[in-house]
Amino acid sequence: MGSCSFLSVFFIYCFLSISLCLAEDPFVNYDFEVSYITASPLGVPQQVIAINGHFPGPTINSTTNNNVVVNVHNKLDEELLMHWSGIQQRRSSWQDGVLGTNCPIPPKWNWTYQFQVKDQIGSFFYFPSLNFQRASGGYGGFIINNRPIIPIPFDTPYGDITILIGDWYTRNHTALRRALNAGKDLGMPDGVLINGKGPYRYNDTRVPDGIDYATIEVHPGKTYRLRVSNVGISTSLNFRIQNHNLLLAETEGSYTVQQNYTSLDIHVGQTYSFLITMDQNASTDYYIVASPRFVNESLWQRVTGVAILQYSNSKGKASGPLPDPPNDQYDKTFSMNQARSIRWNVSASGARPNPQGSFRYGSINVTEVYVLRNTPPVMINGKRRTALSGISFVNPNTPIRLADQYKLKGVYKLDFPSRPLTGPPRMETSVINGTYRGFMEIILQNNDTKVQTYHLSGYAFFMVGMDFGEWTENSRGTYNKWDGIARSTTQVFPGAWTAILVSLDNVGIWNLRTENLDSWYLGQETYVRVINPEATNKTELSIPDNALFCGALSKLQKPQDISLAAPILGIGSKLFFTVLMVTYTLISL
Ligand SMILES: *[C@@H]1O[C@H](CO)[C@@H](O)[C@H](O)[C@H]1NC(C)=O
Ligand SMILES: *[C@@H]1O[C@H](CO)[C@@H](O)[C@H](O)[C@H]1NC(C)=O
Ligand SMILES: *[C@@H]1O[C@H](CO)[C@@H](O)[C@H](O)[C@H]1NC(C)=O
Ligand SMILES: *[C@@H]1O[C@H](CO)[C@@H](O)[C@H](O)[C@H]1NC(C)=O
Ligand SMILES: *[C@@H]1O[C@H](CO)[C@@H](O)[C@H](O)[C@H]1NC(C)=O
Ligand SMILES: *[C@@H]1O[C@H](CO)[C@@H](O)[C@H](O)[C@H]1NC(C)=O
Ligand SMILES: *[C@@H]1O[C@H](CO)[C@@H](O)[C@H](O)[C@H]1NC(C)=O
Ligand SMILES: *[C@@H]1O[C@H](CO)[C@@H](O)[C@H](O)[C@H]1NC(C)=O
Ligand SMILES: *[C@@H]1O[C@H](CO)[C@@H](O)[C@H](O)[C@H]1NC(C)=O
Ligand SMILES: *[C@@H]1O[C@H](CO)[C@@H](O)[C@H](O)[C@H]1NC(C)=O
Ligand SMILES: *[C@@H]1O[C@H](CO)[C@@H](O)[C@H](O)[C@H]1NC(C)=O
Ligand SMILES: *[C@@H]1O[C@H](CO)[C@@H](O)[C@H](O)[C@H]1NC(C)=O
Repeated sequence: MGSCSFLSVFFIYCFLSISLCLAEDPFVNYDFEVSYITASPLGVPQQVIAINGHFPGPTINSTTNNNVVVNVHNKLDEELLMHWSGIQQRRSSWQDGVLGTNCPIPPKWNWTYQFQVKDQIGSFFYFPSLNFQRASGGYGGFIINNRPIIPIPFDTPYGDITILIGDWYTRNHTALRRALNAGKDLGMPDGVLINGKGPYRYNDTRVPDGIDYATIEVHPGKTYRLRVSNVGISTSLNFRIQNHNLLLAETEGSYTVQQNYTSLDIHVGQTYSFLITMDQNASTDYYIVASPRFVNESLWQRVTGVAILQYSNSKGKASGPLPDPPNDQYDKTFSMNQARSIRWNVSASGARPNPQGSFRYGSINVTEVYVLRNTPPVMINGKRRTALSGISFVNPNTPIRLADQYKLKGVYKLDFPSRPLTGPPRMETSVINGTYRGFMEIILQNNDTKVQTYHLSGYAFFMVGMDFGEWTENSRGTYNKWDGIARSTTQVFPGAWTAILVSLDNVGIWNLRTENLDSWYLGQETYVRVINPEATNKTELSIPDNALFCGALSKLQKPQDISLAAPILGIGSKLFFTVLMVTYTLISL
């Protein structure tokens, strides 16, 4: 009985004893004050986005079916939306924090996200989704633990450590945005950060003095769970720890078949959990490395993240060369084979996001097929843009979900093509017409020269195949129909395709985008609209009471009493909690 809306008898029970019912699905509350700080992760002072004064932000620690409440206070000088990447927002795209579903939070305002991490487990992260802000930080980890009665498929680790890796520029996000708007390429990043810090000085020539680096402290003999996310802009990173095996255990909400890797490629937007046993002799500290993939390493030396793994009985500093990356600078076959080797542990118990599609997805009939193709950036109307299937997405002034709610016409077109358009690309607000309860096959064909990673909000999809060359109908013969991993972010190698299957059981408006921030910013995204034709309140939660209005609906927006926006603890949060309880009961009924 994970939810109040399960049985009508249970409803009444809920109604009579609200607190007992809520005890079934507890709340976790966070207050996020999002502001600029000055930091020098690469030795150069710059503007960084912090949460509650910290960069990276706090890790959200929740458990399956928890109600997560995050009151986000926007102390930036520009609009803000927080996106919870990989959190499925069952029945509530209202909380997804992207422009297709939410109006931005204006500067000085606050807005409270409330969502249930329904039937999910795993490792994710959050980040600010507008205006290239992720390039200045504002991100943090997001954990969903198993409920105590559901065992995890490995011994409880001694520690649980979140590691955020990503490429980084010393230019701030405004400067990067300006470069993109002017049609420029961002060029090589200035470095790779690990947990917001620059590289350990493993080589005096390559790393300047005085850079603060991350140290992970561990005890000998113990096993730790490391949850590693690539929160960067556009660089695929190879992650490895000197002398230690990475036992892969989970990725974006699915337990994997457990396999050892000496290093793993983590593409932008992806998250993996590794189990690492501290089985070395602590003669020295050990390097933790995140280095760029598929680039000329002698030119990209500075773009290497190095942190330190330190045993409590360590006898000295790490020294000598970094552990080697895979020896295949430009050949992506090894990396693709590694990606294919990641399989779902179909016998592991755990919350299943879409149970009807989970166990035998290979025998479900596909109801609709979309082939999406991206090309290198193109000029449209004199502007450098990116496109998907010949359409460069333009965000509407009124979010799509809100336009539907108020039956506004002309905000978007439900005509995203199922096959790439030929002819010159164009700028459109064109959305995929998804069929509720359909089973969609999406083929992502990457015609660019860089790896792209694609993310779909609202769902975990089955990663069933990838290969080089053009996808054809015959490619289906190569699909993994049994234990393809269910996740929300997949890489697509250049000149190659990736096929995913998704059960469209979650009503809402869902963002499908490249995670590469520059390509995304320039238009490489769309939305999948999934509507239940039957008028019912059961398959989607109603519009939240605090919904913001903008665009054609801005007249509906009441001004915010900014004096209330300051984080109030104690009495304020108790009152807020009561309001939430009442809201929750109403939603359930
Ligand atoms: C961001 O970068 C631009 C361009 O370098 C600079 O003019 C601006 O002052 C920076 N903003 C902050 C707050 O550091
Ligand atoms: C803004 O924060 C205050 C408490 O600090 C809270 O009472 C209020 O509900 C929040 N506003 C929104 C729109 O979430
Ligand atoms: C899969 O999960 C089961 C059940 O928890 C576990 O016993 C088994 O070791 C796992 N298998 C692999 C290969 O990871
Ligand atoms: C998350 O919270 C639980 C208790 O609610 C705690 O046992 C666990 O250690 C926390 N995990 C992390 C990574 O902080
Ligand atoms: C440090 O880096 C420089 C420049 O890449 C290289 O020539 C040198 O051999 C490196 N030093 C060590 C000790 O590896
Ligand atoms: C992974 O490597 C560790 C040693 O680091 C070893 O103890 C373990 O048995 C290996 N596990 C698998 C599944 O290969
Ligand atoms: C510790 O391990 C290192 C690297 O494997 C090895 O060179 C060294 O001899 C070992 N030291 C001891 C005391 O076992
Ligand atoms: C990598 O860059 C170096 C320095 O510019 C150049 O000499 C070398 O030929 C390049 N290597 C490859 C494989 O392109
Ligand atoms: C899938 O389609 C085939 C033929 O098109 C049909 O025989 C089969 O019953 C369908 N399977 C399901 C599960 O609907
Ligand atoms: C969208 O798809 C539904 C079937 O799922 C169909 O009834 C409807 O006409 C389609 N809408 C458009 C605009 O194509
Ligand atoms: C892109 O498409 C063109 C035309 O089909 C093809 O010639 C080229 O090889 C493709 N490039 C990549 C990287 O897929
Ligand atoms: C859904 O709920 C709203 C109130 O939140 C109510 O006005 C509406 O009639 C309900 N619709 C249906 C189909 O039950």
